[in-house]
Amino acid sequence: MPAASIADYRDLARRRLPRFLFEYIDGGSYAETTLRRNVADLETIALRQRVLADVSAIDLSTELFGHRQALPVALAPIGLAGMNARRGEVQAARAAEAAGVPFCLSTVSACPLGEVAAAMRAPFWFQLYMIRDRGFMRELLAGARAAGCSALVFTVDMPVPGSRYRDYRSGLAGAPGLVGGLRRAAQAMARPRWAWDVGVHGRPHGLGNIAPLLGRNTGLEDFFAWMRDNFDPTVTWRDLETIRAEWDGPLILKGVLDADDARTAASIGVDGIVVSNHGGRQLDGVPSTARALPAIAAAVGDRLTVLADGGVRSGLDVVRLLALGAKGVLLGRAWVYGLAGGGQRGVAHVLSLIAAEMRVAMALTARTSIAAIDRTCLVEDVG
Ligand code: GLV
Repeated sequence: MPAASIADYRDLARRRLPRFLFEYIDGGSYAETTLRRNVADLETIALRQRVLADVSAIDLSTELFGHRQALPVALAPIGLAGMNARRGEVQAARAAEAAGVPFCLSTVSACPLGEVAAAMRAPFWFQLYMIRDRGFMRELLAGARAAGCSALVFTVDMPVPGSRYRDYRSGLAGAPGLVGGLRRAAQAMARPRWAWDVGVHGRPHGLGNIAPLLGRNTGLEDFFAWMRDNFDPTVTWRDLETIRAEWDGPLILKGVLDADDARTAASIGVDGIVVSNHGGRQLDGVPSTARALPAIAAAVGDRLTVLADGGVRSGLDVVRLLALGAKGVLLGRAWVYGLAGGGQRGVAHVLSLIAAEMRVAMALTARTSIAAIDRTCLVEDVG
């Protein structure tokens, strides 16, 4: 059955990926309350239907950080995304480029920066974590600059990793080396199509940008151990000032969920923030993005570009977040499901589904431009 929605791509991803990979992408932290809230709160927001308004010419384009783009969305940075299809980040970046939207490469991608840069003509965004080894961080920044990355997304909601029970159950986390490895190998063998695509044709296997630090320790356990040991819990606003001083392009802070933090970000001079709870993967129990966004947009929306992510499973959800005050929306799981389900074509299809769904939502809320989407598109006051 051909996929007709992002939910269909999620089903495809579940059938094609080894269990440990699907659970890693699909899951959230602890009881997954925030993960569910992200989706459910968006779903309950009622769009305000208006009619007879000549909606024959709908323009989905917008400008973010000085670049015109075809849709008000970007592909969010996702760790290990490249394992979901052969050379996965390259395929996704190409789909984003063809659709005219930014692709953001994660620090902990499977394909290294240079490989993605070589595959692209359009500039892409790079995401950075605060890593204990500041020298290595500077090298990553220099690499991003040399690759012509047009924005730096600095993730601030992972001073410590949230615990994801599904990863323990699947064998991705927790199990000692050999046991975990054997469980994952068995799961991979149960998905021969994935094993052929990624395992055989996806070579060389490596851990992308951090490979130089891991040397010969190239297992997934080594990767997660590195994440645990090298993410820096001492990070403060002062470190952000250092990053601001070192990166002269657009700087976007990802993981802000509170208006006071947003105001501090604005005072430091960042160009944008992503209102985000890391897709419900960090502190379970925090509010959904849809709940947090209106107050943050009201606090800083005139001083910096407010983006949002979390729970977006359709173009209708993109319109809802724009109506709540976001200027752009990051797609996370949505594009990875597309990648797992159909490679580059799957990601391209997800983006075209988002565009088509946005068009219908805009036509029936009587908006013909992105700038015209505001709170009056919504029936309920959800602030
Ligand atoms: C990394 O950012 C993750 O959520 O696993």
